[in-house]
Amino acid sequence: MTGATLQAIRYQRGSLDILDQLLLPHETVYVSITSLELGHDAIKTMKVRGAPAIAIVAALTLAVVLIQPSTQPRLQTAQEAVKFIEDSLDYLKTSRPTAVNLFDAAHKLATGVRSTSRLEEKDQSGSNSHVTVTGQDVVNKYLELAERMLEEDVRDNTNIGKFGAEFILKVWKGSDDLRVITHCNTGSLATAGYGTALGIIRALAGQQKLSHAYCTETRPYNQGSRLTAYELVYEKIPATLITDSMASALLAQHTDKIAAIVVGADRVAANGDTANKIGTYQLAITARYHNVPFIVAAPSTSVDLNISSGKDIHIEVRPPVEVTTLRGPVVVVDPNSSTSKGSSSSSTDVLLKQDEASGKIVSETVAVAARGINVWNPSFDVTPAELISAIVTEKGVVLKEDGVQQFDMKAFLVPM
Ligand code: MRU
Repeated sequence: MTGATLQAIRYQRGSLDILDQLLLPHETVYVSITSLELGHDAIKTMKVRGAPAIAIVAALTLAVVLIQPSTQPRLQTAQEAVKFIEDSLDYLKTSRPTAVNLFDAAHKLATGVRSTSRLEEKDQSGSNSHVTVTGQDVVNKYLELAERMLEEDVRDNTNIGKFGAEFILKVWKGSDDLRVITHCNTGSLATAGYGTALGIIRALAGQQKLSHAYCTETRPYNQGSRLTAYELVYEKIPATLITDSMASALLAQHTDKIAAIVVGADRVAANGDTANKIGTYQLAITARYHNVPFIVAAPSTSVDLNISSGKDIHIEVRPPVEVTTLRGPVVVVDPNSSTSKGSSSSSTDVLLKQDEASGKIVSETVAVAARGINVWNPSFDVTPAELISAIVTEKGVVLKEDGVQQFDMKAFLVPM
């Protein structure tokens, strides 16, 4: 499977459709993103998720809006167009706070269009004279930059897969039975295609070097059991699903077969501390205890050189309902029942979700926790650099200097 066959994002100039990941693996429904509000909502409600995919969907949402006829009157001059783009990106940035890719993309897009609006050219005498830049020029520049992000993501992920697979094969001291554990979903669904940590698994499988992959369930949103398991089954990679609480037991039983735990990242600080899906930190601790390499795989757009360590990462806290309920496929459809109106049923604790357009009941949510219990639902945790063996980017593998507990991401990413 490649990004071309399992696509989270379908884009062509003027139209953006995203695969509604809330409905996977039970239903494959693409949702059209036709406004800033729909793009913002798709990211916030996690119809689309995964750090690179969030950034790309935000960028392309605005790309679609910019060429809608109703937006044109607000883009007449270059200054108007830049202002509209900056305001729109500021709004899209409020959708989710932790993954830095969204902020990095917004910064690059805003900087790119600002520099276009200040275009200057030398006249024949060598002095500067301003070129007339129109709103349309600024829009064109934005489209070029946003569309390039979509293309570059797949290329970067393929390189991450290649470097990560090479690294694992280099450090692997075991037999042919090479197994890897991964967490959350970092595959085609979390990116423009191929994936990061799952891309490494894909690359190992492609080279016939992988004997087995394990994916964690990844509560509460179940990115592992719903999305990664879906990708692994689709790809026919031999794989087993475990709950998050089974990882240490698995490592204890199969220490000599587990070549690595490979995860993605939402934000990597300059010292290598890494924010990723909740549960990553405990996997890093158990990896260290069992002496198994713990590898972070992420594009350089996930690295935030502005923060020195993980303590400065804003961790998103999501609604309690994600912990107290489980979402599943439709089992009973009764559009006339009181529970079909989208409100809670006190007698059954089953919520039915109705698709607004078709009126069809698309999923049901079952309460799995005692009513009234307090809930803490941080979406991410921070794994200290000390517990990370290597950070794999599209530019290569970053390692720690001997005897040093931190990575120097700046030295690796910023050429002197
Ligand atoms: O809450 P999510 O599903 O957006 O979290 C996703 C993760 O934590 C991924 O590991 C990370 O974004 C990397 S995806 C290539």
